[in-house]
Amino acid sequence: MSNQFNLGMFQSSPSEFKNADVTSASSCPVSKIATEFEPFGNSYIKNPYDFYQRARNEEPVFYDPKSDYWVVLKYTDIVEIFRNPEIFSAAIARHPVTELCPVAVEVRDKHNISIEPSLVDEDPETHKAHKKIFGDAFTPKRVNEIEPRIRRLVSGFIDRFIDKGSADLVSELLYEVPALAIFIFLGADDDKALMVKELGSVRSIVSWGKPTEDEQVDMMHDISKHWDFTKQLVDDALEAPGDNYLGDMARLHLSDPSKFTINYLCNVMFLMQFAGHETTTQASANGMRALLENYDQWRSLCKNPDLIPNAVEEILRYDSSIFAWRRITTRKTKVGKFEIPEGAKILMALGSGSRDSEIFEDGDNFDIFRKQKKKHLAFGNGVHFCMGAPLARLEMKIILEELTKRLPQMKMVKGQQWDYIPTLTFRGIKSLRVEWDANKT
Ligand code: HEM
Repeated sequence: MSNQFNLGMFQSSPSEFKNADVTSASSCPVSKIATEFEPFGNSYIKNPYDFYQRARNEEPVFYDPKSDYWVVLKYTDIVEIFRNPEIFSAAIARHPVTELCPVAVEVRDKHNISIEPSLVDEDPETHKAHKKIFGDAFTPKRVNEIEPRIRRLVSGFIDRFIDKGSADLVSELLYEVPALAIFIFLGADDDKALMVKELGSVRSIVSWGKPTEDEQVDMMHDISKHWDFTKQLVDDALEAPGDNYLGDMARLHLSDPSKFTINYLCNVMFLMQFAGHETTTQASANGMRALLENYDQWRSLCKNPDLIPNAVEEILRYDSSIFAWRRITTRKTKVGKFEIPEGAKILMALGSGSRDSEIFEDGDNFDIFRKQKKKHLAFGNGVHFCMGAPLARLEMKIILEELTKRLPQMKMVKGQQWDYIPTLTFRGIKSLRVEWDANKT
């Protein structure tokens, strides 16, 4: 059943799945809430949580005919979907939300970007074996051994601005660190990290945003450069495997090529370079904003760094970088009490599930002292659970440790605007200006 819908990354929708037969659902909840759902509207992009709170109470599952998505808002329903990958296929996870125009398709085909389902959008038959191989190699040893290098990086970036008395934490720290960290982890040269970061950030717009036709074409050229870079990275690793994650995977392939193809390895590396930084940058940025807006909690964290691991979890629960994620049904089924047809596109509002007050008391409150009895949904749940979670947690912990240690007196500059790149799934402020008295550092 691997990607039975042919809905992979950068592909066009087969016509039979452009509109599932929603009229066949016995209780199709086309609703008042759906008329208010504007996933690319300014107010939702800036703050989806007010809408989520209302929708969770009024219509926790609703069908939106405008976008052709079934939106699911409650924690338990989302977990149920995550736990049933045979019925709720991940094949659609990276499929472009906006149909690619013919010129972009031409550029894609000309450049021979040979994307295939890989982990995140792979169906159970092949996903299980691949996750075992690639997940088992993502060992605590491989993650922990790069901790000192990540710490030096973070500290080095802070050195650059600490005497200035002000900084934009996103562009001067949080933008680059996760890209460099994933490069160190994979074993790529640092000097390419920024280029890849820039090429990679367009991928969120192609797959999950609303690019114009011209933007789609430009982005497809960038994506092809990134693909070529990744192929070279893999070729080099196969030639001379290093002491790093990619080296481990290259050695595995050389010892037994039947485990996975070279093209599959390129695909996973292509996925990880993107999944490994955009997400961590944005989650850290949203988290720093939440901490500085709740200044008593920032002070508590500075006084007691032992709270940092808990603060990281609360940031991921309260305002993470992937606030919605997709599935497609492989057969007629149910979510909660609603019948959903085969081929229905589902949008799981992870940001809503992680604030569901039936699971998290006062879910809309940010509270770094919170004891979470259940796990938030920031990294998903079930077989596709984020493979990079230990690395993301480590990076966020180090960033908070260094900032609380070196800039405890930092404050947010008042009156700034919060801008986001509008996408269906990713959420992160573009800048976060902070200031402090440089004479007291
Ligand atoms: C705060 C940072 C991050 C967030 C919020 C995040 C979130 C997610 C989410 C929501 C999924 C989909 C889960 C599902 O479909 O059930 C996922 C999958 C994945 N993530 Fe992350 N991620 C982060 C960081 C990372 C990092 C640092 C890496 C790589 C080093 C990474 C690699 C992956 C991979 C390979 C998958 C696919 C796993 C599978 O399908 O089996 N992620 N992540």
